[in-house]
Amino acid sequence: MSEAEILHRLAEVVGPRGIIDAVPDMDGYVADWRNLNRGRALCVLRPDSTQAIAAAVKLCADAGVAIVPQGGNTSMVDGATPDASAGQVVLSLTRLNRVRAIDEIDMTMTLDAGVIVKAAQDAAAEVGCVFPLSFSAEGTATIGGALSTNAGGNNTIRYGNARDLMLGLEVVLPDGRIWNGLRSLRKDNTGYALKHLFAGAEGTLGVITGAVMKLVQQARSEELLFCAVPSVDAALRLYRRFRSQDESSLRAFEYLSGLAVDMVVQTIEGVSLPFPARADHYVLIDLASTRTNDTLRDLAENILAEALEAGDVSDAVIAENLAQRRALWRLREEQSEAQKRVGANVKNDVSVPVSRVPDLIRLGAEVVTRLFPGVRAVPFGHMGDGNIHLNFVKPEGLDDQAFLSRSGELMEAVNAVVRDLGGSFSAEHGIGRLKVDTMADWREGAELDLMRAIKTAIDPRGVLNPGKIFKTETRGRQ
Ligand code: MLT
Ligand code: ZN
Repeated sequence: MSEAEILHRLAEVVGPRGIIDAVPDMDGYVADWRNLNRGRALCVLRPDSTQAIAAAVKLCADAGVAIVPQGGNTSMVDGATPDASAGQVVLSLTRLNRVRAIDEIDMTMTLDAGVIVKAAQDAAAEVGCVFPLSFSAEGTATIGGALSTNAGGNNTIRYGNARDLMLGLEVVLPDGRIWNGLRSLRKDNTGYALKHLFAGAEGTLGVITGAVMKLVQQARSEELLFCAVPSVDAALRLYRRFRSQDESSLRAFEYLSGLAVDMVVQTIEGVSLPFPARADHYVLIDLASTRTNDTLRDLAENILAEALEAGDVSDAVIAENLAQRRALWRLREEQSEAQKRVGANVKNDVSVPVSRVPDLIRLGAEVVTRLFPGVRAVPFGHMGDGNIHLNFVKPEGLDDQAFLSRSGELMEAVNAVVRDLGGSFSAEHGIGRLKVDTMADWREGAELDLMRAIKTAIDPRGVLNPGKIFKTETRGRQ
């Protein structure tokens, strides 16, 4: 089939509003958020139904055209953009964006894959429930993307990652068949748990088109604390105090290095430090309870008093109202944007056992500073689950390219530390195209063989998202 014929037939399947084939109009779909890659696509498809997606996938598969599924295009590892061949089709899910159903008794919501995560939260709030998946890109990222990458975020310590909130899935398979697994059951032991193959598969096994997700009760009391702490060890001790006194009230426990907070205050309008003096380390602690008449404020104040006395906290504020809550969360949520504005930076999304977080941050900064004198270590992240974004901003005055050209070396140095500490090189961002070499290095032998066998069994023609997760030839049209 000629290129023109493929485009013509795809347009018939998705309708005139569902296809973009003019190069300038594809711009926002072919480059990733971090500018790691600028690819070229044969076209961008934006179907608005599962049936249209299935028909388009079948057509592409039969014509040997590779498909790159894409949600909000917020991948941190270049997981959702095409290669440079101009032969791959970007399949954007953003027009498939209806909330299909909400059930307040079952505490579930059924969503199209293109629903924005924030919109899902808002829809749950309208019926007095909570959709608890929450992360910095939630205003742009989609449910399908969050599931495909098994997104984590801030509330993992309480609600788990995206896959833990997933009850059922609808998936378009690489041959164009639709698997309707949209069950909303809490127990369903009927053979292999297929949904868990597609969650975290980064669109290499199927295109997630719909999902049933769990909801939880709204909190009746909440407290948000922002604390300056003298060291990462002190932050860990503070975490243990909260865990041991009332584990059930913890919703998020986030760490922020002093320099990382300085960057947000300097580059993001309307954000300020709630203390008179800066510190080298901070934590943001979110407590929530669904119990009536809970005394979270007393709990928070008592623990803070103990920690101040022990020298584990040097200053602290507790949000008094919603506006203050939002302001404190911005110090955390604007981290990625601020680091992007400051200059070239290298991200390490790594995890270690929680007890090793202080070692990770200290040793990681040491090895990278030896490689790049003057580099600015700006670690922050989800301390409560051991996932730290051990990021580094280039030394002042150094050329962006000179720094970025050595990013592989920097990441390897950090990964060596992570390996020694029994951690993972990718905690929540996935593999994408960026980390395929590291994947091959870390997940060798039986583990990688099994993953490849699964890929071959489900997508024998290699149609879906080639070049992501595995070190394979990227391909456009055959
Ligand atoms: C976050 O937690 O804000 C992100 O995962 C982003 C990052 O690594 O920059
Ligand atoms: Zn994160």
